[in-house]
Amino acid sequence: MVESIHKPLSPKLQAHEPQHQESQSKLLKNFWYGIEHSANISTKPISLTFMGHDLVLYRGTDGRAIALDGRCVHRGTDLGAGWVEGDCIHCPYHGWKYESDGVCSHIPANQPGVTIPKRAKLQSYQVQEKYGLIWLFWGDLPSEQCPPIPELPEFEQQGWRTIHGDFDWDGHYSRVIANTIDMAHAPFVHASAFGKKESPAVQAYKLESGEWSGSGFITFETKPAYSLKLILGKNPPDGIFRATFYMPNVSRVDLQFGRFQFVLFLVHLPVSDRQTITKWLHIRNFVLTPLVDSFMHRDVVKTFKQDNEAVRIQAGAAPDDLTAEIHAPSDALELAYRKFYNQAVEMGWG
Ligand code: FES
Ligand SMILES: [Fe+2]
Repeated sequence: MVESIHKPLSPKLQAHEPQHQESQSKLLKNFWYGIEHSANISTKPISLTFMGHDLVLYRGTDGRAIALDGRCVHRGTDLGAGWVEGDCIHCPYHGWKYESDGVCSHIPANQPGVTIPKRAKLQSYQVQEKYGLIWLFWGDLPSEQCPPIPELPEFEQQGWRTIHGDFDWDGHYSRVIANTIDMAHAPFVHASAFGKKESPAVQAYKLESGEWSGSGFITFETKPAYSLKLILGKNPPDGIFRATFYMPNVSRVDLQFGRFQFVLFLVHLPVSDRQTITKWLHIRNFVLTPLVDSFMHRDVVKTFKQDNEAVRIQAGAAPDDLTAEIHAPSDALELAYRKFYNQAVEMGWG
């Protein structure tokens, strides 16, 4: 029987077997991950799934954001359904109380004098708030020795207006971030909007690399769509498109038409191998009145919906092996992301 396990599959069967290959399904450690909008965090706890890890987020009395493992160590209940008092969170099932450092400090069913097991402790996480987002440090090194949160100079600057939202993708975050920095898909995926199917060639572009980031920009022929169509009129100037990634889950898209610019700052929350939630900021330097916010919001969601149609039919996470897929020159930026990913894994951050 043992031999039969190792018997080679027939060529026919092999062709239909899903190929197992190492992929970027690991969560890199020793980075700050943007995971939620600050506006969504309050003294009412919320739970979220971070690549299979359940977390709970809430604010303590001084307004500080607190992040703990999201499952009660007693019976695995979702602490997002619990309640907050001061800086502590209580489990909704038997009322166990956890301090902001995750230590269980009270078990209501215990008689006085009964000691609380030392193991009754949740993992707590370092959190920062920046750009209206919650950033969680995931790692085992001191966070000061790790890559910082990326810069976003336009945020809340005079002359710029920011709106934000969420988008749910049916794909792994490695595919989602790749989509948002991809230079070649617009003529096809966005053909009904701003993509020009008749001019799909991508200019050679210069890749600029930072310590844990990469950026590339092109000018392109585009047709204005949605709200931009109304704003730019009949003879729009050439667009300048810049795409940037910051390891491991942030991307930024800059679009400029003459003096009109907007920035999409995207933090991609890895949920599972088949789900990612992008917490997005859209920052524009034109028509600053809040009256057009809903139009801008709608434009972002429409565009992501088109992108998701491509992402959801891709195979799993991006493979670790750079030779497992074939690359074209226009993929240089995504390739740079994959190289950084592999570099982090080689450093033991995988
Ligand atoms: S399951 Fe949380 S207190 Fe019992
Ligand atoms: Fe797209």
